Amino acid sequence: MTGAPPRARERIYLSSPDVGSREEELVGEAIRSGWIAPLGPMVDEFERRMAERCGRRHAVALSSGTAALHLSLLNVGAAAGTVVVVPTMTFAATANAVAYTGAEPVFVDCDPVTGNLDAQLLDEALTSLQDEGTDVVAVMPVDLMGRCADYTRITPVCDEHGVPVISDAAESVGATHAGRPAGSFGLAAGVSFNGNKIMTTSGGGMVLTDDASFADRVRYLSTQARQPTLHYEHTEIGYNYRLSNVLAALGLAQLERLDGMISRRRALREQYVRIFADVDGVRVFQRDGDGADNCWLSAVLVDPRTAGWAVDDLRLALAEHDIESRPLWKPMHRQPVFAGARSFLNGAADQLFATGLALPSGSALAPAQCEQVMRVVEDFLGAGR
Ligand SMILES: Cc1ncc(COP(=O)(O)O)c(C=O)c1O
Repeated sequence: MTGAPPRARERIYLSSPDVGSREEELVGEAIRSGWIAPLGPMVDEFERRMAERCGRRHAVALSSGTAALHLSLLNVGAAAGTVVVVPTMTFAATANAVAYTGAEPVFVDCDPVTGNLDAQLLDEALTSLQDEGTDVVAVMPVDLMGRCADYTRITPVCDEHGVPVISDAAESVGATHAGRPAGSFGLAAGVSFNGNKIMTTSGGGMVLTDDASFADRVRYLSTQARQPTLHYEHTEIGYNYRLSNVLAALGLAQLERLDGMISRRRALREQYVRIFADVDGVRVFQRDGDGADNCWLSAVLVDPRTAGWAVDDLRLALAEHDIESRPLWKPMHRQPVFAGARSFLNGAADQLFATGLALPSGSALAPAQCEQVMRVVEDFLGAGR
C-alpha cells in the first residue's frame, strides 16, 4: 500500500502561534538580506510600526516581555529597598521582573468582574505604604487576558501618590481603553510577543514610551550597557536583551495580520457566549464590555453550587479529547516563591482562580477544531447537567 499513514488527531491548545505564508515571506527576506546578526532594518521598521499602532513616540524591541518590564523598572529606580506594586492576579513574569531588580513586590487584589487591578484598593495600599515611609517606585497594572486595566481610574490614583505607572501590556496588544491603544498608558509599557500571545515573534517583547531618554536608556541597557567608545567600555551592568532582525520580520508579518487574528479570537468568544448562554451558574469571563478587548483568552467562571459541576469537571472532559484548558493565573500571594510578601486583598483573585477555566482561544484553530471543542463542551453540558 502507498500513501501517508493517517495522522493522529492533533492536540488542541489554548493559544498556538498563528503563522503562515506572509511570515515565511518576510523571514525569508530577512535571511536573504544578510541581516542575521542582531539588529537590522526590520527591527527598526517593527519598532516604528508598533509605536504607531500603540500611539507612542518610541519603541525598543527586546527578547521578551519580561525583559521589557525588567528594564522599565530599572529605569524608574527599582532596586533593593524600594517597592513596586503589582496585581496579585497575573502571570509570574510581572512579579519576577520586580524581583530581578532587588525591589520588593507588593500585591494588590483585583476587580471581580474584570480581574484587573482594583483602583480603590490600590489607593488604600499606596496610602498605607507611603504613610509608613516606604519608597514605592512604580505601580505595574496588568491588562489581564487582553482587557486593559482601568487606567481611567488607576492613573489619577498613581498621580496623586506621585508614583509612575509602568503598564504590563503583555497580553493586550491590539486592545483599547477609552479609545486609546493598549501600550499607550503610563510612563512606559511592556508588551510580549511570546509564542502563546496574540501576535508572536516566537519569543520577544517591546518597551513603548513617549519619553526619548527612557527609550535610549532601555536600548543602552539591553545591549550590554556599552559606552560610546571604539573599544568596549562599561560603567554599569548591562543585559543582552535585544530582538534579532529575523524575529522582527516575523513580528512585522504578525502586525499586518493582527486585526484579523483578533477577529477570529472574538468569533470564538462569541461561540462560547452562545453555548453557555442558558447554563445556570456559568458566565463567560470579561464578557461585559469586551468590545475593546483583544479576546486573547476566553474563559468561563463556574459557580459549582448553581451549575452542579465544577470547572475541573469540564477541564477533565476536554482533556479526554486531547483539548487543553487551564485554570486562570494562580494569584501571586498564593505562590510559594512569594510567600510572606505584603498583600492588600479582597478575595477576588482567589475566587477567580477557584472558579475560572481558560478555553481554547487561538486564532490558528481550524474550523473543524473549533467545532470539535464546541461539540465536546455541548456533550459535557448535555450529559445530565
Ligand atoms: C501578564 C504577563 N506579563 C509578562 C509576561 C512576560 O512575557 P514574556 O513571556 O514575553 O517574557 C507575560 C507572558 O508571558 C504575561 O502574561
